[in-house]
Amino acid sequence: MHILLFCLMLSLVNLVFSNEDYSQTSACCTFKGPGLKDIEYILIDRFNKKVMKEFNSTRGNWTGFTNYSIEVAKDWNSDPYDALRRAFEKKLLCTDRKDYIQDLGNFTAAPTVKLNSLKHPPVLVCSAYNFHPKQIQLTWLRNGQEVTSAVSFSEAMSDGDWYYQIHSYLEHHPTAGEKITCMVEHFSLSKPALHVWDPSLPAAERIKIVVGLCGLMIGFVIVGSGFIYYKRKSDAYVTQYQGRVSIPVEQLPRADST
Ligand SMILES: *[C@@H]1O[C@H](CO)[C@@H](O)[C@H](O)[C@H]1NC(C)=O
Ligand SMILES: *[C@@H]1O[C@H](CO)[C@@H](O)[C@H](O)[C@H]1NC(C)=O
Ligand SMILES: *[C@@H]1O[C@H](CO)[C@@H](O)[C@H](O)[C@H]1NC(C)=O
Ligand SMILES: *[C@@H]1O[C@H](CO)[C@@H](O)[C@H](O)[C@H]1NC(C)=O
Repeated sequence: MHILLFCLMLSLVNLVFSNEDYSQTSACCTFKGPGLKDIEYILIDRFNKKVMKEFNSTRGNWTGFTNYSIEVAKDWNSDPYDALRRAFEKKLLCTDRKDYIQDLGNFTAAPTVKLNSLKHPPVLVCSAYNFHPKQIQLTWLRNGQEVTSAVSFSEAMSDGDWYYQIHSYLEHHPTAGEKITCMVEHFSLSKPALHVWDPSLPAAERIKIVVGLCGLMIGFVIVGSGFIYYKRKSDAYVTQYQGRVSIPVEQLPRADST
C-alpha cells in the first residue's frame, strides 16, 4: 500500500514588533494514505520561535501552550466562525492542492550517466544528469568490489527547475586487467544501473563540471540524504524537503495577535 506524506508550509509571516520580537504563523498540510485522502491541516502561531498555539484539523480545535494563549484558544474554540474559517483554509490550502501534490510526488526522471577521465590529477568522473528526485547514489566498483577510499562527490546540483546533476570522482591509477564500474541507484530505476569504464575512450580534454575538482580538494562531501527542489511559480516557490513541500506565500490566512 502506498503511503505518501507531504507537508505544505503555506505561509510564513514575520510581524516585527521590535528589533527582537516577531511573530510567525505557518500552515501545514499533511497528506497521507492511499490517494492522499487523509488530509490534516495544522496552523501554528509562534512568538519568537516559541509555539504559542496550534490548530489541528484532526482534533478540530486550538491548543494553547502558554497561560495567555490557553485563554485565547478557549475563546476561539467556542467561536463557530473560527471553525468555519479553519475549514475554509483547509479546503483552500490543502484539499484543493491535492492533485498538484500527487503529481509532484509522482514526478521522476531517470539519470543520464557519463563516465570521463582526467589526466591531471588522474581521476575518473562519473556524472549523472537530468534526474529527479534529488536522492541518488553513485558507487564505484573495482572488479565488482565497492571502492570506498579515494572517492569524493559533488553535491547534487539543481539543473534548472526540476532536474539535478551530480558528479563522483575516483582517484584512479590504471592497472592492467581491472574493471571499473560506476553504479547508479535512483528511485526511477528498477535496479542499479552499471556503467563500465572503457579506458580506450579518449580522455575528455575539458569536462564541463562547475564544481570540478573542488570536491576532491576540499575533501569528502557526503551526498545528503534529503532532497530539496525549487519550482518557480508566479508568486510562490516550492521547496521539497524529504517529502515536505513549502510554499511561502505573501498572504496569510489570518494572523491574529498572540
Ligand atoms: C480538543 O479536542 C480534543 C478531542 O477532540 C480534546 O481531547 C481536547 O481537550 C480539546 N482541546 C481543547 C483545548 O479544547
Ligand atoms: C493532530 O491530532 C491528531 C489526533 O489527536 C493526532 O493524531 C496528530 O498527530 C496531530 N497532529 C499533529 C501534527 O500534532
Ligand atoms: C500560568 O498559570 C499557572 C497556574 O494558574 C501559574 O502557576 C503560573 O505562574 C502562570 N505562568 C505565568 C507565566 O503567568
Ligand atoms: C500519481 O500517483 C497516484 C497514485 O499512485 C495516481 O492515482 C495518480 O494518477 C498519479 N498521477 C500522475 C500524474 O501520474
